[in-house]
Amino acid sequence: MSQSIIISPSLLSADFTKLAAALKTAENAGCPWIHLDVMDGHFVPNLTFGPPVIAALRPISNLVFDAHLMIENPDETIEWYLDAGCDYITVHLEAANDVNKMAECVHSRGKKFGLSIKPDACVSSLEPYLDCVDMILIMSVYPGFSGQSFIPETVDRLRELKAMCESAGRTPLIQVDGGINPDTIGLCSAQGAACFVAGNAFYKADDPAAAYQDMVARAAAV
Ligand code: DX5
Ligand code: ZN
Repeated sequence: MSQSIIISPSLLSADFTKLAAALKTAENAGCPWIHLDVMDGHFVPNLTFGPPVIAALRPISNLVFDAHLMIENPDETIEWYLDAGCDYITVHLEAANDVNKMAECVHSRGKKFGLSIKPDACVSSLEPYLDCVDMILIMSVYPGFSGQSFIPETVDRLRELKAMCESAGRTPLIQVDGGINPDTIGLCSAQGAACFVAGNAFYKADDPAAAYQDMVARAAAV
């Protein structure tokens, strides 16, 4: 494993009455990132939080703010997330109108752009965008809720993505989200993924710092 492993704990699994403490838990565990699941009740059947909450958290943390926008028409509001202080902004290809324009917008503010697909979308649908993305997020559950089981076919999808990136000569960061835990993380790192969202496996663990160390070690051991 040549790439360093990044764990991005998902705030969706944290105690929403203690968001500041949840950020500290991630920092104290040694996590470099925090994953912010924005859901609009339309693109996915759940509704979470948006730019005002993210902006309120920004001044109290130096974590990399990794926003996962599960929203319709991200083109219309992507700047809100830049203004709120997000470092990585990932949108869904299924909901996007003009991916290249959004990537330009994010890059013009010195931030990173990610593109995601649901488990039923073709991996090849990402191919036209390999030049403009910093990160590709492969969903390993249908988005909407934390605590779901990892979909095993994700491993084949990651293999396909790796081959596609290699033949295009591109090296975007590959992130996986959904059902990641010490038992599933190695399956994904073996196929080139280096960034892992962990909701329940981190925040519901008895010892989140130990869970973090365990996941990093298992991902790196492959
Ligand atoms: C699901 C979200 C995920 C979720 C992950 O739609 O995008 O980020 O919070 O939670 P776990 O790791 O518990 O599957
Ligand atoms: Zn997510």
